[in-house]
Amino acid sequence: MTVAWPLAAVSRPVRLLATDLDGTLVGDSGMRVTLQHHLATLRPRTALVYVTGRSLVSTLRLIEAIGLLVPDRIVAGVGTAIHGGPEWQVDATWQHRLADGWQERRVRETAGCFADLRHQSPGEQTPLKCSYTLAAARAPAVLARLRAALAEAGLRARVIYSGGRDLDIVPVGAGKAAAVGYLGEHWGIAWSDVLVCGDSGNDRDMLSLPAQAVVVGNACDNLLQAPPAGAFVAGGRDAAGMLEGLQHFGWLAGG
Ligand code: GLC
Ligand code: MG
Repeated sequence: MTVAWPLAAVSRPVRLLATDLDGTLVGDSGMRVTLQHHLATLRPRTALVYVTGRSLVSTLRLIEAIGLLVPDRIVAGVGTAIHGGPEWQVDATWQHRLADGWQERRVRETAGCFADLRHQSPGEQTPLKCSYTLAAARAPAVLARLRAALAEAGLRARVIYSGGRDLDIVPVGAGKAAAVGYLGEHWGIAWSDVLVCGDSGNDRDMLSLPAQAVVVGNACDNLLQAPPAGAFVAGGRDAAGMLEGLQHFGWLAGG
């Protein structure tokens, strides 16, 4: 993979911008290039972190394919892996923390009892992320039963449903919010200097952090109808919405 980590990166960033990719930074608003121009001017004092459900490989492919800025960290697999340079190696401390007490085999067995769940492709499965699809119409009933079954089996797992389709089961300590919190702490950045952006169910925990939160205008999974307290709900879609949010929170020059 030829996406090189920005070596000049940010040993001491003072702000952190953590954004989801699909439907948030990446979408159909046509504003991504303009947004990226602004983001580039914020660096290196602002650390840029992509926080996505995708795997590392799929994220790096997307970065290359459409020319995204190379971030300082990639939080992949819905907060189950944190990658940084120079080789995009995984953060072992984070990995060990999540693996503690996690019982992948039993989680998969429990989920396997639910006929409504379909496995996502092997490339989306990791030892810390069990991923399925589930039809939206079946979701309310099945999610409740699945959570109950996991709890009854004594499995400390989180069930995250996104986009009316994707279902991830991850360790309780995983998730986008926890990973962003870990990085903020690592860099010693106060919540008031953290901005998070997202559009779907797997972003809800991150958008509920005591940070500056931007829900983009195309958001789903009830984020528009019931946004997290204090979040800014943009009118514009994806990158256009992010630009509005950055402006709203005074992150743009003259903003
Ligand atoms: C991405 C991942 C998928 C996951 C979904 C929601 O699409 O590829 O595995 O279920 O995000 O988190
Ligand atoms: Mg998204």
